[in-house]
Amino acid sequence: MDQYVVFGNPIGHSKSPLIHRLFADQTGQQLEYSTLLAPLDDFSMCAQGFFKQGLGANVTVPFKEEAYRLVDSLTPRAQRAGAVNTLSKLADGTLQGDNTDGAGLVRDLTVNAGVQLAGKRILLLGAGGAVRGVLEPLLAHNPASLVIANRTVEKAEQLAREFADLGPVAASGFSWLQEPVDLIINATSASLAGELPPISASLIEPGKTVCYDMMYGKEPTPFCRWASEHKAAKVLDGLGMLAEQAAEAFFIWRGVRPDTAPVLDELRRQLARG
Ligand code: ATR
Repeated sequence: MDQYVVFGNPIGHSKSPLIHRLFADQTGQQLEYSTLLAPLDDFSMCAQGFFKQGLGANVTVPFKEEAYRLVDSLTPRAQRAGAVNTLSKLADGTLQGDNTDGAGLVRDLTVNAGVQLAGKRILLLGAGGAVRGVLEPLLAHNPASLVIANRTVEKAEQLAREFADLGPVAASGFSWLQEPVDLIINATSASLAGELPPISASLIEPGKTVCYDMMYGKEPTPFCRWASEHKAAKVLDGLGMLAEQAAEAFFIWRGVRPDTAPVLDELRRQLARG
């Protein structure tokens, strides 16, 4: 049977095996997908071992940058992202790295949530790997502006410089921003600590601004709660992005695009059960 895995550390709670099993059932594809706990100091050996037999893999925290350095070739979007979340063994036996995170976010926003990006004012919170991975696909939709706001402003400035050739990107500190925007995407890891980036509620125009948290959980994240309290038009969490980045990886490996809607329903049910 064709073998796929997701590498991570920790990896026990990964939803990827469930998602890919549901995709495989739905599309009638014969494959096995499991988790692989890679040692923190030996991802590369672990990946090389797996690919003696395996056909493809997803890569999650903390190995996305290491996977970027490991591969024989990169897709242009992975090159820009500086990180790899999808590995494929090509026909000639070499390893290709791709990054489907940005495409997953954009598809969840535009297709699943019906949010238009062209001509819109977008605010991205954070300047880490998660932001780097989504800048190119967001800018490809021609927003009116894209501001990267971060606690450490220099990191936002660095990213803005690096992506300036792709569109109207600017950097900011959190407290400098007051004017309402059309879309706020939280890509900080603040939610993990139960925290919220210190941004003004005036950024939300009630009934108009869409708020998206790349994180998700059984309960709404602090950012989602804040967005609801201030009457955002839509409040979305990152479960849709998770399903969509997986669907994009499945498409790369199998040439078939699964329908994410029933899979997302199942993920939501399981999350609610805890
Ligand atoms: P990832 O790959 O998930 O983006 P990362 O590269 O460690 O992870 O980046 C984490 C991001 O969350 C950074 O933008 C970080 O801000 P700094 O660059 O100033 O460190 C941001 N972050 C983490 N905790 C935060 C908090 N409590 N409030 C605001 N921003 C936070």
